[in-house]
Amino acid sequence: MDDWIKRDLAHFWHPFTQMHSSDPPLLIERAQGLRLFDAKGKAYDDVISSWWCNVHGHNHPTIQQAIIDQIDALDHVLAAGCTHKGAIALAETLAKLAGLPYVFYSDNGSTAVEVALKMSFQYWQNIGKKEKKRFLSLDRGYHGDTFGAMSVSGKSAFTGPFNPLLFPSYHINSPLCSSCQQKCSLSCLKRCQDILSKHHKEIAAIILEPLLLGAGGMLVYPATYLKRIAELASHFNVHLILDEVATGFGRTGTFFAFHQAKITPDFLCLSKGITSGTLPFAATLTHNAIYDSFDTKTFFHGHTYTANPLGCAAAQASLAIFESENTLEHVQNIQPLFRSYLEEFNTYSFISNIRSIGLIGAFDLAETVSPRSVYRAALKQGLLLRPLGNVIYFFLPLCITKEELKSVMQRTHLAFKLL
Ligand SMILES: Cc1ncc(COP(=O)(O)O)c(C=O)c1O
Repeated sequence: MDDWIKRDLAHFWHPFTQMHSSDPPLLIERAQGLRLFDAKGKAYDDVISSWWCNVHGHNHPTIQQAIIDQIDALDHVLAAGCTHKGAIALAETLAKLAGLPYVFYSDNGSTAVEVALKMSFQYWQNIGKKEKKRFLSLDRGYHGDTFGAMSVSGKSAFTGPFNPLLFPSYHINSPLCSSCQQKCSLSCLKRCQDILSKHHKEIAAIILEPLLLGAGGMLVYPATYLKRIAELASHFNVHLILDEVATGFGRTGTFFAFHQAKITPDFLCLSKGITSGTLPFAATLTHNAIYDSFDTKTFFHGHTYTANPLGCAAAQASLAIFESENTLEHVQNIQPLFRSYLEEFNTYSFISNIRSIGLIGAFDLAETVSPRSVYRAALKQGLLLRPLGNVIYFFLPLCITKEELKSVMQRTHLAFKLL
């Protein structure tokens, strides 16, 4: 075993990884565009965008330069009592893109969610509706690993050990569109409607991932479902929190997934792609009514690295690339090709439920094929394809070219043939 890997195993406790029974980690030394390179120079196409955060390709020169320029001027400053131009300009840009004027920065997807939950809860306290202290969410939803985020996530292996510590919340059945046989009348929303009509007085907010339940199995659902949820939230005077930590920044074909439903949430949680996967950064956006209710009531929440200038600079540069490289147009153009490549996997008897949205595509593996064997076969073909349970998925960087896409798909077929 490589000496570095021995040293890794001696000290580095990896996330979501079972020590001793997992494959040893890949030692990655550098990256460029779609590719990661290991210590021996072998290339792996990062087809899961390094946990769904890389947008414009690794080591994009514009983002690199923005970070270098920023560190030359200001590395960090606390965000209470101080501000800086990068944070101000980024807040203006995000507010315009989302149609929500107030931006609260934090460090990662889980904290973006915690902020929204706490703001929603405190808003109702601020205006005297003290009984509104529960949340409603989807049973296959995933919102992060902090306690609030886990409490509103679906029950799973991720939350199992911590169940006794989670606060009670309402969970509804998730839309399972790719395996649903019914003609869609959104009848799966009945439970949501029932819970809201019975308990809306004690519910502060509904939280969900728009159009794609990521960690819950890459489950895609239509904009009509999201629109109906928004209508129910509004009808029952319950906030709508949209967790776009995974779906934001062009992943689903539009800048934000919620744009496809032509709605505006009360809270929008952003992270991952916000810096195109270069620095840990997050933001929670909201509107005037929420902000104004804190007029005389402080929101007691913050993190040391709130509005970190390097993160702000990386995010602003990443947003500028959407313009300079016509990223969304590229996604729209390449999306049908991606979909047709995915359909070709229909020929394998062990694959079912092919689904996609934007440059995210997934299918289920039959029990006869082990996900780990797919992972290993894909690595041999130079693809970092990390299964999610029995789900094999692509979460492609938006910069992927037609040629790169073709090569990724060809090598995925080779991997399946060698199983
Ligand atoms: C939709 C969603 N929300 C929140 C999170 C948590 O983000 P983080 O891992 O940055 O805390 C994730 C992470 O995968 C996510 O997919």
